Formats: sequence, C-alpha cells, structure tokens
Amino acid sequence: MNKIVVVTGGAGYIGSHTVVALSDAGYTPVIIDDFRNAQPWIIDRIEQITGHRPAVFDIDCQDEVKVAKVFDQYETIFGLIHFAADKAVGESVNNPLKYYQNNIGSLCTVLKVAEERGVRNIVFSSSCTVYGAVSDPVVTENHPVKAAMSPYGDTKITCEKIVRFTQAVSDSMTAILLRYFNPIGAHPTALIGELPQGIPNNLVPYIAQTAKGVREKLTVFGNDYNTPDGTNIRDYIHVVDLAKAHVSALAYLSSKEKQICDIVNLGSGHGTSVLEIIESFEKVNDLKLNYEIGPRRPGDVEQIYADASKAKNLLGWTCEYEVEDALKHAWEWEKTIEKMETK
Ligand code: WQD
Repeated sequence: MNKIVVVTGGAGYIGSHTVVALSDAGYTPVIIDDFRNAQPWIIDRIEQITGHRPAVFDIDCQDEVKVAKVFDQYETIFGLIHFAADKAVGESVNNPLKYYQNNIGSLCTVLKVAEERGVRNIVFSSSCTVYGAVSDPVVTENHPVKAAMSPYGDTKITCEKIVRFTQAVSDSMTAILLRYFNPIGAHPTALIGELPQGIPNNLVPYIAQTAKGVREKLTVFGNDYNTPDGTNIRDYIHVVDLAKAHVSALAYLSSKEKQICDIVNLGSGHGTSVLEIIESFEKVNDLKLNYEIGPRRPGDVEQIYADASKAKNLLGWTCEYEVEDALKHAWEWEKTIEKMETK
C-alpha cells in the first residue's frame, strides 16, 4: 500500500520538486497549498512528469478545521513535510506580523493536527538563515543559532524550537529539521521551476530574468568583501538534489525505532561566489549577462557554506548535480516561462 505523505506548500518551488521526488520514490504525496505563492498549473506539470496526479487541497494551513478534514480522509499518514511559509527576507522586514502570524501559526496548526492523529515522521523545512552572520564560513549543525537578522529568519528559529519541544513530549512524533542553503535551478524536464512573484529577491532567478530581457541588468551587491573576488560566497544546491534529500530524511526517520528530533544541513559543501555564478551561467548557457557592481545589500552574510558530512553519514545523501547543471536547468526553465507568457 502506498505511503501517504502530506506536503504543505507542495505546489511551491521546493515543494513541487519534493512531490515529484516522493512520487518517483513510490510514496503518495498529498498537497495542501493555498496557492498564495504558486500557480495551479504546476499540478498539471507534476502529473506530466510523474504520471500521477497528487490530491490537492487549496487550504490555508492556519485553518485547523479544514486541515484536520484533509488528514481525516486518510486511514494512515506515513509522514508530513511542512514547507508552507512566506519566505521573502526583505518583505518580512517591512511586514513582520504577516510572517510571524503565517509562518508560526501554520506550523502550530499543522503540527497539532498531525500530533493528534499520531503521525510519526515529521520533516520541517528550515534554513541556513538561522546561523546568521558566521565567523567561520563552513558551518556544521552544531554552529550556534544566532539572533535572527530578519523576521523571516526569526520565524525559522522559532519554528525549529516549536518542532523540538512538541516532539519531546509526543508519544508518536519523530522529526528532522532540514536547514537548506541556497536552492537553485529547476527540474531537468523544464516543466517545473522557480516562479518568483514580482522582482526576484534571489540571485539566480534575477540572473535568468536578466538573460531573458525581463530585467535590464543584474546588480552585484558589493565586490569589496573579504573573499577571493570580493563578492559574497554561498552554497548553491540543485533543487532536485534538495528534493531527494527529503525522501532520504523520511526513510531515515522511519528506520529509527527511537523517537528523535535531529537537524541536518542540506548543502553541497562547496562555496561559490556571485561572480563565479555569473561566469558559470554565461558559460554553460553560451550568453553574455548585463551586470554592474553596486553597493552592498544590508544584512548580507559575507560567506557561508555547509559542512555537509552529517547529511551524507546520517541520510546517505549527497548532491548529484553540479552548480553548472542547476544554472543550465534554470535557464531552460526560464525560457519556457517566456513561451507561456507569449501565449
Ligand atoms: C545570494 C547572493 C546577494 C541578488 C536566500 C534566502 C534565505 C535562504 C538562503 C531560504 C548574495 C547576491 C542577490 C541580486 C546579488 N533561503 N545577489 N544581486 O541572501 O543567500 O539567502 O537563500 O530560506 O532565506 O534569502 O540568497 O540569492 O538573495 O543572494 O548580488 O540581485 O547573491 O548579495 O550575496 P541569500 P540570494
């Protein structure tokens, strides 16, 4: 019998790629998403890729009655992966209450419904943002979680604590907190990918839209950092690799007799600078990008990348794609959006 996995935010960027990975691994994903930051046609694309159309419930995760009705449709639920959250760092600074209300409220509601029904395997979507500004750029999971640099980051820190304290007193729950570094790219079929709303905050979608001519030019936020080429360094990870890590995390949780709450960094273990990303994007896609060097962006960490050994040792997971593959797939996906827009 297929194992049911409830995926909140399952129509979103990382969520949709994870639904594909779950389906490919033989699970039966069930999506809860209010489509505030996702397109309905993504579900058609998931079906096109996997051959299976997931059940989808267009519900706000803060609506306990409706969320409970979804869970009660299934006799046994194997696991829950919680993505549903607002995630724009800049927006969170200008609208903190939206972020605290939604990100914390949604988690509390979904966790309560799951715990009441004895759902065992809980995977929470967290972020390397919780590390804040790091002194040593290579971070392990033991690196101290610092005071958040944004309300968004603060909700991730708070939500990690909520999962930890809830699991500690649960008779059924076992949990893992996955701290993503920088997810980039799109599915190799170019059927699903990142769909930023408005002006992209993140580097790679902005690069892709600049290459397409939607943006006039990319601004590199500072080249006077203490790094080899002066630009920030990050750990960029292909979104398909990130999605597969969630399948590995579920397998790990279900293999453990003992109930636990563990933390795992999901990164490649390598750092790449902004200028290196630009150069790779140009090379792998055979194009020239229009960019200029501008002022630093407030709040940017100079450099951070994962010590990814725990993911390898605990989950048996490592990245299969290179950054270049992600940049190639990002561009192939971006070009399809252009075709869709012109329809
Ligand atoms: C990367 C680098 C910018 C845009 C994000 C999320 C965070 C977490 C990790 C989810 C930085 C530079 C960017 C541009 C630029 N994800 N840049 N020009 O800031 O590392 O964090 O991913 O939880 O929440 O915010 O990613 O892509 O915004 O920036 O020069 O137009 O690219 O300065 O050095 P970041 P990013």
